Amino acid sequence: MSTSLLAVSNGSFLDKVQSRELRVGVIGLGYVGLPLTLLFSERKFRVTGFDVDQKKVDILSKGGSYIYRILPEEIASATQSGFEATADYARLREVDAIIICVPTPLNEHHEPDLSYIENTAHAIAPNLVPGQLVILESTTYPGTTEEVLIPILEKENKHGLKAARAGSSEENTFLIAFSPEREDPGNTTVARCDIPKVVGGLNSRATDFAGALYGSIFNRVVPVSSPSVAEMTKLLENIYRCVNIALVNELKLLCLRMGIDIFEVIKAASTKPFGFQAFYPGPGLGGHCIPIDPFYLSWKAKEFDFHTRFIELAGEVNLSMPYHVVNSVAGALNRQKKSLNGSNVLVLGLAYKKDIDDLRESPSLTIIELLLKEGALVSYNDPFFPTVGRGRHYDLNMESAGLEQLEEFDCVVIVTDHSSYDYADIVKRSKLVVDTRNATQGISSENIVQC
Ligand SMILES: NC(=O)c1ccc[n+]([C@@H]2O[C@H](COP(=O)([O-])OP(=O)(O)OC[C@H]3O[C@@H](n4cnc5c(N)ncnc54)[C@H](O)[C@@H]3O)[C@@H](O)[C@H]2O)c1
Repeated sequence: MSTSLLAVSNGSFLDKVQSRELRVGVIGLGYVGLPLTLLFSERKFRVTGFDVDQKKVDILSKGGSYIYRILPEEIASATQSGFEATADYARLREVDAIIICVPTPLNEHHEPDLSYIENTAHAIAPNLVPGQLVILESTTYPGTTEEVLIPILEKENKHGLKAARAGSSEENTFLIAFSPEREDPGNTTVARCDIPKVVGGLNSRATDFAGALYGSIFNRVVPVSSPSVAEMTKLLENIYRCVNIALVNELKLLCLRMGIDIFEVIKAASTKPFGFQAFYPGPGLGGHCIPIDPFYLSWKAKEFDFHTRFIELAGEVNLSMPYHVVNSVAGALNRQKKSLNGSNVLVLGLAYKKDIDDLRESPSLTIIELLLKEGALVSYNDPFFPTVGRGRHYDLNMESAGLEQLEEFDCVVIVTDHSSYDYADIVKRSKLVVDTRNATQGISSENIVQC
């Protein structure tokens, strides 16, 4: 923890953090909220988890898990340490700190959908208790904490409480901070507690308290001067990824035309000991962060008569990648004197990246829909998804096909490079493989088409 946080006076909040008497409430028990809950629980905090999805609450209450990488044993162990899941917001009155981890998607017009944050704020407000610390973790545009969350909490709480601001008295206040979640799903090289936690409070007391709380589960806390700085930090990180991925995606398209292997180029460039960080091309962006978060900022920027051209351009390039994949499949089939219309195509991998059970915004879904539109007979295989039904942007109703009869497909498209696939065997048994991920690197066959 940073020294400024250690210098905080020994208020009862800090004593309770130290002694683990402090009660934590986490709202939104998804990919972010549930692991965070378990981390607090592992470090001996008593956590109450809140979710509007009663099915999730029931599964957790029975000691089960609905996230692949979280084992039921971890839920059972947390339960022994006092973890409870509930849909009853009145129980927020029992906790000292409330951490909000609800979704922040885009609506159908590609604009921020803050309804989850707003609904959460409406539900917290009547249960807000003086002195409580409320922390928003959901990724969002700078200004959300102060312009959206605080006004609802101040207006709708029952005690006339105000958010504690710089210089305001502590009486009749609640504390508020923003602290972005920076997890990288499926990354096993960095432990969650080793990802430094950026914290920006509305006043220094909120920053110090939130910092002390997170400092007891994360190895490093990075205090910043305001919620907006913390909100913008998260967006900078994700926009940096989005723009760099777009850059390599564009260069891949050029390299394909020039007959140059972009992956070999990236590998060589990565040997430079400074000034270069490797990003890899693929079939398009997926997940709840990189394809979405940049557009939170471009939307907000318009309020300031500002056009975020890098974000728009990166979005354009990345969004075009699934179309490039489908064109490549059509071209590869054409070279075998077949049309896409009527061909049997197997899409390997539904998840938006390897070895995870998350298909939100996955390019596989777009690719499947585009292939179907062109008249292909499409199947998919994904060990993480035995079936796929309906989501916000898709309606597929399909079952994962077995890999026993690969030779029956006209084309196999590798969209997600799960580690469990035996690529040499897949290439050997397939008539045609279109590889969007360089998963077949080192395998030599005329049937492989890099895409
Ligand atoms: N998944 C990631 O890898 C990741 C990484 C960094 C940041 N984030 C950000 O974290 C936030 C949460 O993402 P996630 O992936 O955990 O989403 P998620 O969809 O997996 O989980 C959100 C949970 O919130 C619940 N919920 C929705 N409205 C609620 C309400 N009013 N009250 C209580 N619960 C409610 C949902 O039922 C769901 O269980 C988003 O802003 C996202 O951008 C996600």
